Amino acid sequence: MRDLETKPHEALAEYLAEDMTAVNALIAERMASEHAPRIPEVTAHLVDAGGKRLRPMLTLAAARLCGYDGPYHLHLAATVEFIHTATLLHDDVVDESAQRRGRPTANLLWDNKSSVLVGDYLFSRSFQLMTETGSLEVLRILSNASATIAEGEVLQLTAAQDLRTDEAVYLQVVRGKTAALFSAATEVGGVIAGADADNVKALFDYGDKLGIAFQIVDDLLDYEGDSAATGKNIGDDFRERKLTLPVIKAVARADAAERDFWKRVIEKGRQGDGDLEQALTLLDKHGALKDTRNDALTYVAQAKAAIGKLPAHPLRDMLTDLADYVVARIN
Ligand code: IPE
Ligand code: IPE
Ligand code: MG
Ligand code: MG
Repeated sequence: MRDLETKPHEALAEYLAEDMTAVNALIAERMASEHAPRIPEVTAHLVDAGGKRLRPMLTLAAARLCGYDGPYHLHLAATVEFIHTATLLHDDVVDESAQRRGRPTANLLWDNKSSVLVGDYLFSRSFQLMTETGSLEVLRILSNASATIAEGEVLQLTAAQDLRTDEAVYLQVVRGKTAALFSAATEVGGVIAGADADNVKALFDYGDKLGIAFQIVDDLLDYEGDSAATGKNIGDDFRERKLTLPVIKAVARADAAERDFWKRVIEKGRQGDGDLEQALTLLDKHGALKDTRNDALTYVAQAKAAIGKLPAHPLRDMLTDLADYVVARIN
């Protein structure tokens, strides 16, 4: 692991600064609407709050790493961030979340209707952007990813509140709702650059494993993170009665009394003062948080092995470091 003082995503942002400036300009241009003022209000609220811009950087890095020097990696990077932003708007409605990127969510500031419809608008804008590349293959990859993300979110609906949800179902959910966009982001970068099939596959694998690790850590941060750093409320998953990996592990190791506790708070949804603290005590008692982190590290190692198959390049090293950062991150 190289120096993690300069955070790997910052090093990547620095290396890709020129491209990212162009992507941000493209995002600003395409998120506007002349006809419905609510659209720029909502999109500006969310986009101006920042966000790590990890996914567009993955696309740019993958394309550059494969020697691309045309203009369309910019469209693809903006496409990927638009899909991401659309899913965040919808996700905060579904999760009834109140905080995102350190700001009140759009559903709280405006309403669910605005979030759903502006999310739809951003999805549509993303499809317009990707068609401009003229590549049917990237259209195929990104439209598949959009469908897979929705499937993951819907699968999570039925997996939540159900103590029978196991690690296999959890993996299916996170692969869908999160990793599908990471792997599409890296894959389309390789495809637009005309990389050979082995390299495109390695890029896909890197994104897939990185995305899984990223979501596992997101789920850890929902229990042990700091709201000031994540910009999101802690305990949202518990309140939403989600069977995330730490809980699945603790439930599997629960004694009879503990099982009753999980049944009450997760299945019946009868939660009161002190229950989140009790859940944390049980997660800790069974080493569920530590084991969850170790699972994330396993995926990080697989991501690094995948990216290691690409030719030597400064960006390859930065993507390797980024994999470490995904687990070390606090936001
Ligand atoms: C949040 O993603 C949604 C998840 C998949 C956990 P990010 O943490 O990348 O969100 P921003 O774009 O930086 O706000
Ligand atoms: C992230 O879902 C995946 C998508 C947005 C599709 P989560 O609900 O786990 O993410 P956060 O914690 O709200 O960012
Ligand atoms: Mg959410
Ligand atoms: Mg969610």
